[in-house]
Amino acid sequence: MSLAPASNHGKITIASMREQKLRREPITCLTASDYPTARLVDEAGIDMVLVGDSLAQTMLGYENTLSITMEEMLHHVKAVRRGVKNALLVADMPYGSYQVDHKEAVRNATRFVKEGGAEVVKIEGGEKRADLARRIINAEIPVAGHIGLTPQSLHVMGGYKVQGKDLRAIEQLRRDAEALDRVGVSCLFLEGIPREVVSAITAEVNAPTIGIGAGPECDGQVLVFHDILNLTFGSPAKFLRRYADAAALVTSAVQAFRADVKSHEYPSDAECYHLPKETMANLDLLLANPQTGYPSWQILPSRKANGNGDNGSRE
Ligand code: KIV
Repeated sequence: MSLAPASNHGKITIASMREQKLRREPITCLTASDYPTARLVDEAGIDMVLVGDSLAQTMLGYENTLSITMEEMLHHVKAVRRGVKNALLVADMPYGSYQVDHKEAVRNATRFVKEGGAEVVKIEGGEKRADLARRIINAEIPVAGHIGLTPQSLHVMGGYKVQGKDLRAIEQLRRDAEALDRVGVSCLFLEGIPREVVSAITAEVNAPTIGIGAGPECDGQVLVFHDILNLTFGSPAKFLRRYADAAALVTSAVQAFRADVKSHEYPSDAECYHLPKETMANLDLLLANPQTGYPSWQILPSRKANGNGDNGSRE
């Protein structure tokens, strides 16, 4: 198997992702929330691009994911859609867009497909969301489940806490996974769950499991794009691996620009536009004979010289 960037790999679909699970070929997923990121992630050969509601924090500076709206999410999904060709595009349904009313939830899911171009919508919650997941699937919209540490349940969980740490909680997680699998979710995101529990769930369900802070036994792994590049300003979670320090790169580029401007190093002559030779010669003449009476900005050739019947000024 080649590990080269797979920009030439084919279109990833729900079916091809399921085959990956059966072949035990790890599924890769990263978040993206804008056009350039979407292009870079897609062209690097990532299988699945998630427009996660974590963009509320990473892109919009909100405290948590609870306040982001349908319109804000849709705005980002559309931008990402324009940048993704091969990866499977999954859109997070924001808090409040599917918890209140099933009909409204299906309508909102439809908007992600119709207006945003998403191929799958993701909802948080297990057993209690199975009926809703079935309704959305019945509307021809593939659904991704998300169980374990579900950030939209922040206040119920009492913080961002690893889930499934005692036998009762493990049993609930297994029921959650089974219930969503039974209604036919396309994949199942597992977040903040002990490795040993994830291993059992992954073996029990048909849907590919995509883990974040859930150990290596998942069928795939997802991380937040801003996290792997050190663009999130916080202390990293235990599971996080940073692959580059974009914050340092950006800071040094910005500081270098500032220093160049302050020291008159930028722009150099090579970075300037120049007049055509003939205009330059006319300009030199004018500047050498200031008695012609033109104001300094009225420097273009005379009526006769430019042949256009005007005096060439911008007046
Ligand atoms: O919003 C998000 O980025 C997510 C992933 C962490 C799974 O839901």
